[in-house]
Amino acid sequence: MFEQPIPTLRRDGDTLVILDQTALPFRTETISLRSLNDAAHAIRSMQVRGAPLIGATAAHGVALALVQDGAGDQSLRHALQVLGATRPTAVNLHWALARMARVLHPLTPAARVHAAWAEAEAIRADDAASCDAIGRHGLALIAAIAARRPGPVRVMTHCNAGWLATCGAGTALAPIYAAQAAGIEVEVFVSETRPRNQGLLSAWELRAAGVAHTLIADNAAGLLLMRAEVDLVITGADRVAANGDTANKVGTYLKALAARAAELPFYIAAPHSTLEFSCANGASIPIENRDAEEVRLIRGMNADGGDGDLRLVPTETQVLNPAFDITPANLITGIITERGTAPAAGLAGLYPEAV
Ligand code: MRU
Repeated sequence: MFEQPIPTLRRDGDTLVILDQTALPFRTETISLRSLNDAAHAIRSMQVRGAPLIGATAAHGVALALVQDGAGDQSLRHALQVLGATRPTAVNLHWALARMARVLHPLTPAARVHAAWAEAEAIRADDAASCDAIGRHGLALIAAIAARRPGPVRVMTHCNAGWLATCGAGTALAPIYAAQAAGIEVEVFVSETRPRNQGLLSAWELRAAGVAHTLIADNAAGLLLMRAEVDLVITGADRVAANGDTANKVGTYLKALAARAAELPFYIAAPHSTLEFSCANGASIPIENRDAEEVRLIRGMNADGGDGDLRLVPTETQVLNPAFDITPANLITGIITERGTAPAAGLAGLYPEAV
């Protein structure tokens, strides 16, 4: 089982300790969450981010709420409502809260606190196991390419879908860590992922793990794909609809289009908590629009080593900041899940009980 270099979240008594991802890649800091508001703020402000980690944090947030505010029906309903409204696109949030509600609603208030911590821990462990299995199934794809020709297997990814985004090895980066462990040489092309630059988190992870990687500007991806300087693309997902349409970090769709034009394989890696069989297609997936200041500013490190925001344009400049886009199923070669890899349109074959 993959061991996270620093746990993305861990329970410490009646608190939840998280790795503050807004400080990365400049500073490695943890924060102790003690209340429902702390947990909701952590998700909203992206101190925790990445679909599976958002779900696991929300589950622990329910436990924090019941400890702090009492475990009666009103407190439980309030916690589920507040946490459910934090971010709209990653379905893992709603999956985790529904799982908590199913377990907790039938219990007496006296039994709920213990059960809430236990279920949140089960969700954490479920995600870690899913990441490992995704790593094994994705490894088969990488190993097949490595067997065909010498040299490193060149994987392009987008955003951060590594261990930082989950409770385990990650989704899109799990096959890369599995390949490294299997002695297969890989090289990862990481796109910056403006405006929140989650690609820098992938670069930070890969550097620490000793995996060869190259950071590219988002707009350089098309050229690399057109020239076949990449063997395959693997990204994560925030919500996969029943027909295989997939919401992921904005910019994913353009990579899928360029990969299709270059006749290169494009894979999505996602655990069961990201699959929403009750959602017919991508048109009904809500897309989060985030604060305009995320685009007007850029975060970096000063010469004196301090980090901060630099203003690119004045506040008067009109901005649109959709945080996700939809990649249609017909552009996706396959979806790598903990149960194996399926064509996007054939996902139901792996989860017959869910349809
Ligand atoms: O806005 P974020 O940073 O929460 O978005 C994260 C992504 O889009 C990831 O690619 C996705 O959640 C996959 S996570 C394993």
